[in-house]
Amino acid sequence: MDCYLGIDIGTSGTKTVCFDKAGHVLASATAEYELLTIKPGYSEERPCDWWEAVKKTIKEITKLGLEIKGIGLSGQMHGLVILDKEDKVLRNSIIWCDNRAILEAEELAINFGNERLKAITGNEVVPAFTLAKLLWVKNNEPDIYCRIAKVMLPKDYIRYMLTKEFKTEYSDASGMQMLDIYKKEFSKEILDYLELSKDCLPSLQESVEISGYVTKENQKELGLSEKCFVVGGAGDQAAAALGNGIISKGEVSIVLGSSGVVFSPILKEDLKTNNLQVFMHAVPNTYHVMGVTNGCGLSYKWFKENFGAGLNYEELNQKALASVPMANGLIYLPYLNGERTPHLDPYASGTFIGIRQNTSLGDFTRAILEGVAFSLNDCFNMLPKIEYKKVLVSGGGANGQLWRSIIASILNMKISRLEQSEGGALGVAILAMVADGVYTSIAEATSKIIHIKDNELPNEAWVLAYKDGYLLYQEAYKSLKTYYKKAFKE
Ligand code: XUL
Repeated sequence: MDCYLGIDIGTSGTKTVCFDKAGHVLASATAEYELLTIKPGYSEERPCDWWEAVKKTIKEITKLGLEIKGIGLSGQMHGLVILDKEDKVLRNSIIWCDNRAILEAEELAINFGNERLKAITGNEVVPAFTLAKLLWVKNNEPDIYCRIAKVMLPKDYIRYMLTKEFKTEYSDASGMQMLDIYKKEFSKEILDYLELSKDCLPSLQESVEISGYVTKENQKELGLSEKCFVVGGAGDQAAAALGNGIISKGEVSIVLGSSGVVFSPILKEDLKTNNLQVFMHAVPNTYHVMGVTNGCGLSYKWFKENFGAGLNYEELNQKALASVPMANGLIYLPYLNGERTPHLDPYASGTFIGIRQNTSLGDFTRAILEGVAFSLNDCFNMLPKIEYKKVLVSGGGANGQLWRSIIASILNMKISRLEQSEGGALGVAILAMVADGVYTSIAEATSKIIHIKDNELPNEAWVLAYKDGYLLYQEAYKSLKTYYKKAFKE
């Protein structure tokens, strides 16, 4: 049987899923790794940990006797991986939720110019994107910077390890903030600013094109055949959207992962008239807007691990269900790692407001779920004002019925879940299937593979409470904005 692997190199671990041509899951394996938070605002991971996790999960699948025809890679975006000329990794990867490059972002905004950056990359400077991280290395670790021979993104490091091909594709590359998204090439102007040679950057390809074949050494170690190819793949958000069948204007995907994302495809002509972050999609020559709240699943995980009284998510959800909309006056601002959308504020921090003598564990849990949902609503409200017929929710957080119900009520919209829950892994496996000629196009593949499982309608009784609550939530950030900056310490 022909099988395709989707490998998703995430923040807390790697998930490798094997699909048949119809998108059914045949096997799946995960391996976790450590997120290194050596200082507040700093988040790093070891590329060798990703590679070990990828090898371990592939081997778990191939040992079942499944023959893999092609592989798609999806990965956490924006992370900086740098190699020297001997291909040695020069330092830990500074990953997407790391906020250390605040001064570099300010420098870029002034010296390079925010307007100019937006005109080239589609976005004003974002400290979390690769460009600011690279500049941080230049300013703070010059001995390392001068030895850089290759700059790559997390999933492209895995491509390099699997195939020795130094390549990336447009969706992830557009999150580096070094790509001219109109010309579809790395910007010479930005590279000159960085004093970095173009040879240090990977060559660019479409998500659906084959980048290369697994090396002989890997074939043997991982149980893959010499014909096993790797396609371009996608940044995790474009991959997840594809795995949810979100490929056209008027469709929205909400992903409840470590970060929370509101994603919607747009047309090239609409690029300049919106305030969300813009990227290239994994469908050739298409674009998408994206709002990102940094602390989605991360908030819930952090809370569970530190204050969850040893309960699991299901038990905590039960406690939250016993609370009421607006958690008896408790509001949570999910800014554990600063915030991207809508505030673009690296100084913001996670905050609970409204703790009273009678505030319970259920209230705290519910406030977490509601605070993240309010932040997603902030993102949703910034989408182009058109009619949205299809809003899909996915990611680990979507398994919780209560969280889905809270989100549907805060958005006051029907949200749907799919039969398929493999999101990003399925998205990039679909790319491999299309590259292999199983389907003639991405649109054909998604229409045949992806089906709606259930819908969550707004809870009428909650909608009103959340309408007022949202205003308070917005008010809270406004009141604290100056405080956050004053109180910020690295
Ligand atoms: C997207 C983003 C996150 C990471 C980690 O812009 O920063 O989604 O890709 O999931």
